Amino acid sequence: MLTPGTFADSAALYAAVQRMLGQGVASGHHSCHMAVAATVGLDGGPKARIIVIRQFLSESRRIEFHTDVRSPKVTELRRDPRIALNFYDAESRSQMRLAARATINAGNDRARESWQLVPAVNRALFMSPFQPSGELTEGVVLDDMPIPDQTDESGFAHFAAVVCEFDEVDVLWLRAEGHLRSRLAWSPDGWRLFRLCP
Ligand SMILES: Cc1cc2nc3c(=O)[nH]c(=O)nc-3n(C[C@H](O)[C@H](O)[C@H](O)COP(=O)(O)O)c2cc1C
Repeated sequence: MLTPGTFADSAALYAAVQRMLGQGVASGHHSCHMAVAATVGLDGGPKARIIVIRQFLSESRRIEFHTDVRSPKVTELRRDPRIALNFYDAESRSQMRLAARATINAGNDRARESWQLVPAVNRALFMSPFQPSGELTEGVVLDDMPIPDQTDESGFAHFAAVVCEFDEVDVLWLRAEGHLRSRLAWSPDGWRLFRLCP
């Protein structure tokens, strides 16, 4: 739970961030289950979309999400790995903004490790013959993707586990008594806290 004291102490603030991200991974009902992920588009403009966070490794400051390797965001991240992940927790009315760098894992051991945990219903998404965000030409009909057997590997070729390592967390808490905001910046000495004007 956030308290005003949390915003003056780096360890307490990171503990709160850990709790929210941990709950976001664990529960599809938690508001931190999804984030807005913003990248630098190939045209230099901002591109933002919703993603589901699948894993959070607190010690190494890493968040993983899954995507189709053919999607434009992968091309964007290969060109510029900077990514912003924004969360909003409706219950506490708090915003978390993470600045990270992404590594694309596709067709490698790391991707394979994550793929093992992808349920069949999600595996179906990677079996589509169409490129995500690609235009569907006239007459193309999208058939319902049949849910494959859990051992079906045919979607693996399109699967990417995107691992985002963050080094900055900006937390804003909206309260009737006065809003609070602090930023955590990572260095080899650990997290350093900066209090900010909300
Ligand atoms: C609730 C929700 C959850 C989503 N989760 C993901 C996800 O985990 N990974 C993903 O690649 N796209 C996800 N999407 C779809 C993206 O928002 C986006 O439309 C798609 O990935 C294409 O993005 P791009 O063209 O920017 O690459 C989700 C969309 C919604 C509405």
